[in-house]
Amino acid sequence: MKRTHHCNELRPSDAGRSVILTGWVHSRRDLGGVLFIDLRDREGRTQTVFDPSDLSTVVFESAARLHSESVIEVAGKVRVRPEGTRNSKIATGDVEVHVESILILNHAEVLPFQVDDPEVANKVNEELRLQYRYLDLRRPEMLRNLRLRSKVAIATRSYMDEQGFLEVETPTLFKSTPEGAREFLVPNRRDPGTFYALPQSPQQFKQILMVGGIERYFQIARCYRDEDLRADRQPEFTQVDIEMSFIDREDIYALIEGLLKKVWKTALNVEIPTPFKRISFEEALNRWGIDKPDSRFGMELVDFTEDFKGSKFGVFGNTVAGGGVVKGINAKGLAGATQGQIETMTEYAKSFGAKGLAFIKVEKNATGSVEWKSPIVKFFSDVEKAALTAKLAIEEGDLLLFAADQWLNACEILGKIRLYCADVLKGQGKLTLDPAQFNFMWVIEFPLLGFDRELNRWYSSHHPFTAPVADDIPLLKSDPKKVRGQHYDIVVNGVELGGGSIRIHQPDVQKTLFEELLQISPAETQLRFGYMLEAFKYGAPPHGGIALGFDRLCAILCGTTSIRDVIAFPKTAKGVCLMTDSPSQVTPRQLRDLHIEVKAAVKPVA
Ligand code: AMO
Ligand code: AMP
Repeated sequence: MKRTHHCNELRPSDAGRSVILTGWVHSRRDLGGVLFIDLRDREGRTQTVFDPSDLSTVVFESAARLHSESVIEVAGKVRVRPEGTRNSKIATGDVEVHVESILILNHAEVLPFQVDDPEVANKVNEELRLQYRYLDLRRPEMLRNLRLRSKVAIATRSYMDEQGFLEVETPTLFKSTPEGAREFLVPNRRDPGTFYALPQSPQQFKQILMVGGIERYFQIARCYRDEDLRADRQPEFTQVDIEMSFIDREDIYALIEGLLKKVWKTALNVEIPTPFKRISFEEALNRWGIDKPDSRFGMELVDFTEDFKGSKFGVFGNTVAGGGVVKGINAKGLAGATQGQIETMTEYAKSFGAKGLAFIKVEKNATGSVEWKSPIVKFFSDVEKAALTAKLAIEEGDLLLFAADQWLNACEILGKIRLYCADVLKGQGKLTLDPAQFNFMWVIEFPLLGFDRELNRWYSSHHPFTAPVADDIPLLKSDPKKVRGQHYDIVVNGVELGGGSIRIHQPDVQKTLFEELLQISPAETQLRFGYMLEAFKYGAPPHGGIALGFDRLCAILCGTTSIRDVIAFPKTAKGVCLMTDSPSQVTPRQLRDLHIEVKAAVKPVA
């Protein structure tokens, strides 16, 4: 016997047909001795009817004893359901299958959580869902997410193929290179003390592929980073990784806009307008206080540096005198912020090294007139107050927040607070974002380098292979801070979807960057990147590329904020797979073979 139909297929026009369905017992009802089992497979659900007057007692009773989620095969005849018993919620709701025989393929034990009722299933705690992920995957949301992920992967491959790209696989046993995040190491049994590293991205291989004349490469690549995990970060994740030769930034923008257009059309049937806006890093920080702005709502940062030059309010006046800035935002409707909320925001400011956060609540006082409630207003001159009123469009109910600090810090503090306020307002129903709105933007003109005060050296904003803007190359030695990189990020609704750059392809520029700015010693440079510098000596074409976070892409398309919802077997925030219980201990023999001794108190399993 073979299944004749999926559980979403039967219609009234099939009445009278003999069919065979297979699937899971979704739900079971006993109505006056007649048993109704909703049978579910990947495609949908069909009601099956077990009538004791037509079935042997043995068959009927075996059906009556089935637990939810048991796997069965039924054979029977399709009937149109009597008037009044139809179910418009499912595609097969006008029919049912009158069962003639049943084959129990597998019994299910009592489940650790219910999967048939979405109301209940959505409330199950995530750890339990991850421990029994195979049950969780039976929920329609998870199935929909994986289906969409598959569609997006296929659309991506076909688009890249149309654009003349070759899909090339690169090794995942790579070598340790200080590219950014901490790496996962793999001990080498054959040479004690040597290790492979799992790649953080195929960055170096894809550049070498350009030297190898591939010209257009892509890969849906697995990447590994041992970093602190969050809703949008996993220790292993997937990138749509791309590299091209003989191109400039415009080619990348056009390619990715075309790809995302196709993906949005395929996945959501939505036309996204292109080209995307381009915002410089400086403008992004000035307006939204972050390099991945969510521009779906306002609350933009306003600059008050000029207004508080020489201010009597020392915190502001002195900051400006010291070369810093004063910036503010107006969180409309948040004047009623609680002490706890103000403290949370102040803690954000302090975590950036600021002494505090200044705020003004615009509220009615006891006599009914609108007042600026704040410990600092008494220090403001009338001119300063007028500047605030004019630039922040102040009304009753507003919460004004100010940061005085060096430019980057002040921007980042308010950027974080802006997002926090938006969350609070969302929670209060005062801010709603349209789930169908996608604000794409390119963030460009990042500084090539940042300065690490603790280590007293420069670090790459993106990675050390990013080319400086050609005009800025002479500044590399004289004024590194001013050098802009040919780096771009693609951002949507506050999520960094991807990033890339035009690369350095001249070995001498690359060497200067490694040795003089990043202060990697010549010996270390040779050890880590020698092969790359060597390769660049033999005809490296100008090239550049980008990588999109594929999990983040799918999460946005599925309307979820956690990439765990679009990964079949994700890890928890602690990097643990609860289903397989990994990472786990290994035997002393395995450790011996790898020449490894564990010093921690925990002993390996015997
Ligand atoms: P980058 O490090 O910016 O660039 O990574 C590109 C994109 O990958 C996604 N991403 C992640 N997704 C989930 N979990 C993580 N831990 C994680 N880390 C990064 C993000 C990010 O924008 N080789 C360069 C690309 C290039 O220059 O071509 C690179 O990896 O969406
Ligand atoms: P102080 O003079 O330190 O008592 O601070 C006076 C007010 O200014 C308090 O409300 C502080 O929270 C606030 N404040 C302190 N430092 C900053 C800063 N860097 N930016 C904005 N407000 C600040």
